[in-house]
Amino acid sequence: MPTPQRIILLTESNGWHCHQLQTAFATHHIETIPMSLRECRFDTTTRYGLHLPIFGRSLPDGIFIRGIPYGTFPQVSLRFGLLHALQQVGVPIYNLPSAILRSLDKSRTSFLLKQADLPTPPTWVCESRKQAYRILREAFAKGQEMVLKPLLGSQGSRLVRLRQGDKLPKPFLYEGVYYLQTFVAKPTAEFYDYRVFVIGGRAVAAMLRRHDHWITNHAQGASCQAVVLDEPLTYLAEAATMALQLDYAGVDIIDNGASQYYVLEVNGLPAWHGLQQVCSINLAQCLVEDFVKKLHLERNKNYCAVRCVATAQ
Ligand SMILES: Nc1ncnc2c1ncn2[C@@H]1O[C@H](COP(=O)(O)OP(=O)(O)OP(=O)(O)O)[C@@H](O)[C@H]1O
Ligand SMILES: [Mg+2]
Repeated sequence: MPTPQRIILLTESNGWHCHQLQTAFATHHIETIPMSLRECRFDTTTRYGLHLPIFGRSLPDGIFIRGIPYGTFPQVSLRFGLLHALQQVGVPIYNLPSAILRSLDKSRTSFLLKQADLPTPPTWVCESRKQAYRILREAFAKGQEMVLKPLLGSQGSRLVRLRQGDKLPKPFLYEGVYYLQTFVAKPTAEFYDYRVFVIGGRAVAAMLRRHDHWITNHAQGASCQAVVLDEPLTYLAEAATMALQLDYAGVDIIDNGASQYYVLEVNGLPAWHGLQQVCSINLAQCLVEDFVKKLHLERNKNYCAVRCVATAQ
């Protein structure tokens, strides 16, 4: 059976992650071609209706998505349209575009976590400013604080903690959507949460992120330290990843200081630079091994399908 030869690494930067992945793919004798989705296009005059740089009218053996550029709604729609089309013509993609979409939109993530019966802080998402104020009033009346987040990922920027008497920011700052979540308070003035990395359904590494501010993203300057993957972290991270049907994910989990854990979010395009600095396994190698397994499975499936058709004829 032929081995996969050339895959596309969809990325917006040729930085550390790209280099780690290319090195890991090279150990499997797979050539990696970094590319931005901005360079790909639909072209209905070609065999597959698509045109990709370097591949032209042919297709890659697989696509590893490291990054999808933000843009206008039509640009983002086109980019996801291309990914869905590539999947439809049989290119294995890691993570699948539909799963990435579930994780990008925090409201869908919250809904799916709730559907899967996983603990997540009470969350409301609406467009109406009037409704948002009503939700805040009810929370404040119960003595709760709230967090307002951008609907799409922001690596910890633009999150606001709202207390009794606070006003909502101007609607355009949050693009007309209010994602409101109950603030998970700890009894002490400590700020930390956990990032668990899941690959191929298995939690493989975790870290505790600590900061002197309540927003504890690595990108916001939090310090990282390795933690043992205990049962609650493992279970919650693996179940949350499964709820969104992601091949791999970075799952953010917070506790209330009294052993009650909550899943905050599930990242379908997680960075792992901070985690790699404190864990002993090579995360890029683990990701690539899992993806290569998927590529072989796809190839076997296609090979068997061709054999079945040939035998039937
Ligand atoms: N409900 C909450 N209660 C307490 N702290 C929270 C809450 N929600 C978020 N935080 C803090 O803010 C950080 C960022 O929140 P979250 O992970 O939801 O969004 P994000 O990291 O900005 O999104 P993305 O990773 O998609 O860019 C968390 O890691 C945590 O430290
Ligand atoms: Mg996060």
